[in-house]
Amino acid sequence: MEKHKSSSSTLFDEWSSHYEKDVKNTDKSNRYPFAGYSEIRRGIVSLIKNTKPESILEMGIGTGMISEELYNEGYKITGIDFSEEMIDIAKRKMPEATFFNSTFFDSIELIGNKSFNCIVFSYSIHHLNKNEQFSLLIALLDRLHINGKIYIGDVMSINKSKMDTLKTKYANSWDDDEYYPIYKEYMNKLEEFYSFSINIVSHCSGYMILTKL
Ligand SMILES: C[S@@+](CC[C@H](N)C(=O)[O-])C[C@H]1O[C@@H](n2cnc3c(N)ncnc32)[C@H](O)[C@@H]1O
Repeated sequence: MEKHKSSSSTLFDEWSSHYEKDVKNTDKSNRYPFAGYSEIRRGIVSLIKNTKPESILEMGIGTGMISEELYNEGYKITGIDFSEEMIDIAKRKMPEATFFNSTFFDSIELIGNKSFNCIVFSYSIHHLNKNEQFSLLIALLDRLHINGKIYIGDVMSINKSKMDTLKTKYANSWDDDEYYPIYKEYMNKLEEFYSFSINIVSHCSGYMILTKL
């Protein structure tokens, strides 16, 4: 496994042992940020199974909560994450998967000229600022087959005013270092590269599907 660490990965290393419990509890109590997580996972996993991709790249794979079911059904998984501890947990669940302990941007070179039918970001792309998100999604075009799809599950809204409403509602716990995807912003920036659809699954979350044009 290749190692490319950055200092902020330490936070995720520390979170790794209780991450899954935190996600499940927050989802169960229907609170920001993970309200709707299990619905997002079900939705993305079932859409992926419908298209039967040969290869799946999960960016920010964490402990493998999304990819594990797909791995168990025989899909080829490549996982990227800059937290070594998160990857260690994912690796225990998916010993034959390929992992790169790397940042999103560095991983594009590390994975070589391999390309994928399907790329997943679940609660991970928001760790980049908006310009970085758009640059990454454009850079990933070279790693995506024609008609390949990118699934993004996250805290999400249709437009900025709905996101601002959420931010006000959760003023005490809102994380200003996370930049949640807004459907209309994504469409404005990326419509020449991808077609878009969205499923909102809770008051604060959903998933978008970007199909390479
Ligand atoms: C909130 S967790 C989500 C994990 C998993 N996708 C899930 O659905 O449970 C975000 C993950 O993204 C990883 N991550 C955040 N920023 C990253 C970056 N710039 N490059 C690589 N991994 C990153 C973190 O280490 C963490 O494992």
